[in-house]
Amino acid sequence: MVGKICGTGSCLPQMIWGNEKLEEMVDTSDQWIQERTGICRRHIASEEETTAYLASKAAKKALHDAGMSPEEIELILVATISPGNIMPGIACEVQKNIGAENATCFNLNAACTGFLFALNTAQAYIAQGIYKNAIVIGAETLSNLTDWKDRSTSILFGDGAGAVVLKSVDEGTYIQVSRSIGNKGHVLTLTNRNQKKYEQNPLAEETYMRMDGKAVFQFAVTKVPEMISEVLEKAKMSKEEITWYILHQANARIIGSVARRLGENKEKFPMNIENYGNTSSASIPILLDELNKKGALKQGEWLVLAGFGAGLSCGASILKW
Ligand code: UT7
Repeated sequence: MVGKICGTGSCLPQMIWGNEKLEEMVDTSDQWIQERTGICRRHIASEEETTAYLASKAAKKALHDAGMSPEEIELILVATISPGNIMPGIACEVQKNIGAENATCFNLNAACTGFLFALNTAQAYIAQGIYKNAIVIGAETLSNLTDWKDRSTSILFGDGAGAVVLKSVDEGTYIQVSRSIGNKGHVLTLTNRNQKKYEQNPLAEETYMRMDGKAVFQFAVTKVPEMISEVLEKAKMSKEEITWYILHQANARIIGSVARRLGENKEKFPMNIENYGNTSSASIPILLDELNKKGALKQGEWLVLAGFGAGLSCGASILKW
């Protein structure tokens, strides 16, 4: 059994910051940000737009798209690194907010690869026959974790949530490969804000995201093509059979480089980073929802999803739309 995506949804905060807003905050320029990342603007959550709020809205829309009622849902997984609450897990908040009283709910943290790992987890439950359906969500309010004085990270990130509904079908394909490389974890970090040592100085340097951008860039452009080639091989498929490559939206140059390294047409790599920046675990489901709502994804087309990020971690999956 395989979980088929039968509904998608997303939710973006109301407020939009263009690159000119960042120009007021750090020594940067609209031109630099656009040329080096492809980003023009990003959505920034208000206090009311918590990660759980965005996740719940995205889940509701995905349920509506799937034509299912919340009581039918058996599993809710939320991938996030910015949950707001430690307890209860925001997957339980989503359950409460949407009325999915029969679901088992938990969060999962695999940073920007989070949505992909959550999808893998839901697929494993469905393949075992443990659950017949699931909502898988990627949701972030990274603006709460960003040091707005640090130009090497603040220009990149944005807030938002995306969700998919999976329904078990007898015939279908979901093939995945994944990697975690813990000994390279130091290149992208956010030290736990809840440790006692920060009580004296809650805004200490370590309480924000820190990134060696070049190291992460190098990791992404090397590992993502490797992961995609590996998953194609595992599926015994050729790249010509793939219609769309849905990559984590971290930097337009990373996506361009992956396409070149695979010898693939850039048109097969849709992007929306210009409007949202890097929304970590939310970027893949937001893009999926946009493409779905535009009618760009046709029944029977093969999709590759690929993610990478802190951990370090990376992975790729193949599924049929
Ligand atoms: O979601 C997964 C996690 N994140 C990523 O995947 C991000 C991966 N990394 C990146 O996307 C890129 O490394 C960045 C966008 C973060 C940085 O781009 P870069 O091309 O690697 O820039 P750089 O750090 O090599 O800096 C190039 C120049 C430097 O100036 P000099 O030394 O050449 O004079 C920097 O000081 O650009 C300067 N610079 C900036 N200038 C204006 C660095 N950041 C900025 C900035 N505005 N924000």
